[in-house]
Amino acid sequence: MKKYIYIVFFVVASSFNSSHARKIKPDKPCKHLTVYYHDILFNGTNKANATSAAAANPTQLGNTNFGMVVVFDDPITKDQHLLSTPIARAQGFYFYDMKTSYNAWFAYTLIFNSTEHKGTINIMGADMMGETTRDLSVVGGTGDFFMARGIATFRTDTFEGTAYFRLQMDIKLYECY
Ligand SMILES: *[C@@H]1O[C@H](CO)[C@@H](O)[C@H](O)[C@H]1NC(C)=O
Ligand SMILES: *[C@@H]1O[C@H](CO)[C@@H](O)[C@H](O)[C@H]1NC(C)=O
Ligand SMILES: *[C@@H]1O[C@H](CO)[C@@H](O)[C@H](O)[C@H]1NC(C)=O
Repeated sequence: MKKYIYIVFFVVASSFNSSHARKIKPDKPCKHLTVYYHDILFNGTNKANATSAAAANPTQLGNTNFGMVVVFDDPITKDQHLLSTPIARAQGFYFYDMKTSYNAWFAYTLIFNSTEHKGTINIMGADMMGETTRDLSVVGGTGDFFMARGIATFRTDTFEGTAYFRLQMDIKLYECY
């Protein structure tokens, strides 16, 4: 009996060891990309360059767009210029989810289809717009980003009312295959 308990302990202990052996180093991402996200909200007339549209209007609760759902198909560029050749598209949605201040929740896929990268990165989490930087979760990926996990740090790079905003997305992957 004693021997049996010892063996169980050994198996459990060694499985803990092997999960540590997965080489996750919080200070050292295995892949790091800094990209820019450009969002131009459709306002009824800017069909030519709008990249996102409200799919559900804000509710009457509070005055911070609570309940508004925006679906986007936004260009992602390597530099800050809206008109640079995109390296990926960001497709997904955000909705406003705080009654007392502007706060959104994002879920989207970065779709890469270039000579440099092919594949997707899936990102979700809270965008607490009042904070200088916000960390969202990289929950998975495909292709060049197979099984990716990590953190996407948002920083508002510019903001022009409802007409246009640009986010810097600093994507650090801690699991790469
Ligand atoms: C919509 O956006 C365009 C381009 O920014 C602007 O010229 C136009 O005045 C806007 N329309 C409304 C109704 O806000
Ligand atoms: C969208 O296009 C309109 C018309 O060309 C232009 O006035 C506006 O500045 C553009 N919006 C952005 C964010 O570039
Ligand atoms: C990726 O790019 C290639 C070459 O431009 C194109 O033929 C293909 O349809 C694209 N695939 C997707 C999923 O956009």
